[in-house]
Amino acid sequence: MDGLEIPLSRPDLSTLEERLVCEAVRNERLAMGPMIEEFESLVAARVGLPHAIAVSSGTAGLFSVLTALGIGPGDEVITTPFSFVASTNVILHAGARPVFVDIEPVSLNMDPALVERAITPRTRAILAVETFGNPMHMDTYAAIAARHGLLMIEDSCEALGTRHRGRPAGSFGIAGVFGFYPNKQITTGEGGMIVTADDRLASLCRSIRNQGRPVDPTGAQRWLGHERLGYNFRLSELQAAVGVGQMRRLEIILERRAMVASRYIARLSAITDLVLPTVDRDTEMSWFVFVPRLGVDYGREERDEIIRGLKTHEIGAADYFPCIHLMPFIRERLGTHPGMFPIAESISSRTIALPFHGQLTEREIDLVAQTIELLLDRNTFSRR
Ligand SMILES: Cc1ncc(COP(=O)(O)O)c(C=O)c1O
Repeated sequence: MDGLEIPLSRPDLSTLEERLVCEAVRNERLAMGPMIEEFESLVAARVGLPHAIAVSSGTAGLFSVLTALGIGPGDEVITTPFSFVASTNVILHAGARPVFVDIEPVSLNMDPALVERAITPRTRAILAVETFGNPMHMDTYAAIAARHGLLMIEDSCEALGTRHRGRPAGSFGIAGVFGFYPNKQITTGEGGMIVTADDRLASLCRSIRNQGRPVDPTGAQRWLGHERLGYNFRLSELQAAVGVGQMRRLEIILERRAMVASRYIARLSAITDLVLPTVDRDTEMSWFVFVPRLGVDYGREERDEIIRGLKTHEIGAADYFPCIHLMPFIRERLGTHPGMFPIAESISSRTIALPFHGQLTEREIDLVAQTIELLLDRNTFSRR
């Protein structure tokens, strides 16, 4: 929440979540209890996979998967430079080397041809991101990974509920990871979920999440019988209670968001200076954000000015996403520089994330559209 009259995002919470949190408090079992179990079952069922492992964040989930798969020093992981920074950070935390490839301009996901070209003898995995929830090419990356004996890990932090050709986001690779930060489709405040069909990987992730304990520490093995190097990546029962409520209401939450997206598309499609997000026919989209971009005639300064203008009018807006390969700490570590990924760089300099959540009214959408029109008119005038 940015404190503006029309905020960039807003969680969709109800009295159901309130009741479930109270239930968890009354239960006094505040960690590793029934809410976690139910939350995991609900996500596993929605994604159609046998295992779901709740973790403290999407980042923790991705890091756990990389660690469990033994990806580390000497390994290369192919990934996108156009994403939230965590998808690259986890590769670095694991000690492996991120290898970026440029995106294609329709889905904003990695260009599959470039993925294939980036494979070297050191490549271990493809870490694919469903950018803004768009699942296009996930099946192609999975096929490339299978052909080359690589692992595909799906960063589905932005994509809970999305399907491509009937297949749910999170189910394309060896593991998928969802994120539940408050701007996501559903939230637990902070939180994440690993999903996988691989029994061994699921057990390892459960152990890594819980200080390297055996998967069932209440069974024959002891609570303090740590088997491996682990972390505390557990989610609390209170957070899971919110997650259970959100999952029970998932379909209505996604429907409301889809309605807002289609209203935006209807209202903004007449503005010729804007390129609107596109969803292909094979995709059932779960909208994470709504991010149009300015046409190719515009530059970063003009985009930034429009974002500032929107905020001045009490309308949330953001530059999703700055290119990861151009962040100073990444440039320093990996030797990346401007010009390496021209499509990602060009698109990243022109995107404007608009206010997006399920409670956005038609009047508010209209106000956002009018303000963009006003700012574009003013901008065109100042360019003459
Ligand atoms: C693509 C992507 N990967 C990873 C993350 C990290 O998730 P979290 O903030 O829950 O750690 C996020 C979002 O926050 C994301 O959008």
